[in-house]
Amino acid sequence: MKTSINSQNNIVLKMERRELENIIRDFAERGVSVSPEALSFLKEVDYKIYLDNLHLLGEDVAVVLPRHLEAIKKALESKSKATDAREALQQEEKIESAIEIEEAPEIKAVRGELEEFIEYFLSRYERIFNLFGENLRNRARSVAEAKIAKKGDSLLVIGLIREKIESRDKRVLVMTIEDKTGSMPAFVPPEYKRIGERITLDQVIALKGTATGNGGLSVERIIQPDIQEHEPNRAEKNVKAVLISDLHIGSLYFNEKAFNSFVRWLHTSKARLVKYLVIAGDLVDGIGVYPNQEEELMITDIFEQYKMAAELLSKIPEHITIIYAPGNHEPVRQAEPQPKVPEHYVSPLLGMGREVLLLPNPCYIKLHGVRFLIYHGRSLNAIFKHVPGLQPISPETVPQAMKELLKARSLVPVYGESPIAPQPYDWLVIDKVPEVFHTGHIHVYGVDEYKRVKIVNTGTFQDQTPYLESMEVTPTTGTAAIVNLRTLDVRIMHFAK
Ligand SMILES: [Fe+2]
Ligand SMILES: [Fe+2]
Repeated sequence: MKTSINSQNNIVLKMERRELENIIRDFAERGVSVSPEALSFLKEVDYKIYLDNLHLLGEDVAVVLPRHLEAIKKALESKSKATDAREALQQEEKIESAIEIEEAPEIKAVRGELEEFIEYFLSRYERIFNLFGENLRNRARSVAEAKIAKKGDSLLVIGLIREKIESRDKRVLVMTIEDKTGSMPAFVPPEYKRIGERITLDQVIALKGTATGNGGLSVERIIQPDIQEHEPNRAEKNVKAVLISDLHIGSLYFNEKAFNSFVRWLHTSKARLVKYLVIAGDLVDGIGVYPNQEEELMITDIFEQYKMAAELLSKIPEHITIIYAPGNHEPVRQAEPQPKVPEHYVSPLLGMGREVLLLPNPCYIKLHGVRFLIYHGRSLNAIFKHVPGLQPISPETVPQAMKELLKARSLVPVYGESPIAPQPYDWLVIDKVPEVFHTGHIHVYGVDEYKRVKIVNTGTFQDQTPYLESMEVTPTTGTAAIVNLRTLDVRIMHFAK
């Protein structure tokens, strides 16, 4: 019996020795030796877990001591707690997409002929006329009627501003207001001149005043259609949308580092409620958008630009739905409204095996009941050019320019500065008041609120370019806006370091 127990003990000892040798050898292969105390701990546990997690120490050690093993154990415990918590949250908050395309322009082919423009402007006039309050609409007289009114008669005319000139002494602004029945001069006296100067050409406005007796109107009040303050819709659930624009993938100036840092943030617990990523145009830099563009391109093939876009976007967490509308750098017609980007260009995006929604520019969508007006923002150039007091372009003035569009109830109030496709129905009228008005294009972010509408311009992921430099604009590179759809809070985050 005694002999047998001894031999059994010998076997156990042999096994233990082999196990210890394995531990020492495996650690040695990683260039680390193990202290006798650490060894006696490791032989009692699954030592391979510690072996595989030496990197958690955050430093190179020559000899593994018990305190190192304790540190690895703690790091593993907190890591598993974080994973559990994240999974629990994801399960608890797994939110299904709730996207409604509320209005997307039905784009008809146009030839750009005069009759089409006449029809387009009639549609603009009628649609905006109907956005004025009932009281004003009922009191409005046609231009033909107003022109024959007696001197001193009260007048209210709703029309399109066709021309604006200053009187010779620069004290009075003379506007030509027009409707279907004709046009007439409207004299804006010095006290209202500054208001008049802010009204761009081709806006539909109401002018109140008195008849001059010789076919003119002496203006006492200028009324824009403007938006009415409303109680905003909110999501019932805690869910967020991230808004970006103007990545310009394919350009030499695309800041990939900033974009990757944005993607890394989307993987953190801070971004766990993000369900949507809205891209308001200029995702790619495109080809032939401006003269000699090829000199500023890293990728000179539009299909390759979209391949790179898909590569970058595929790193975004899969549960996030990507919503994408074009801008002036996309391979679609330049005139607004623009159709969604044709599928043959964006097949790499559609092949990512995730939810990607292509939209025209502009369009209205609802995310969990929260209305977004998404517009690339090309007309903002004309607003900066024609509305006094908005220069220089900055995060403060960008939302002010966007407010001018809301007040005019038109996304492209000025005709002739950026191309418009003369559709028989003016899709560029802002007939619905959104909760969030999202634009890009300017490459400078801006956030504000106007009559409870969140105004957001999402800046860019492109660095300074020679063009912007020549315009003396400093882009705000690496910006994204995070919108909480339940609280409607908007936060700008900066990802370029
Ligand atoms: Fe852009
Ligand atoms: Fe743009």
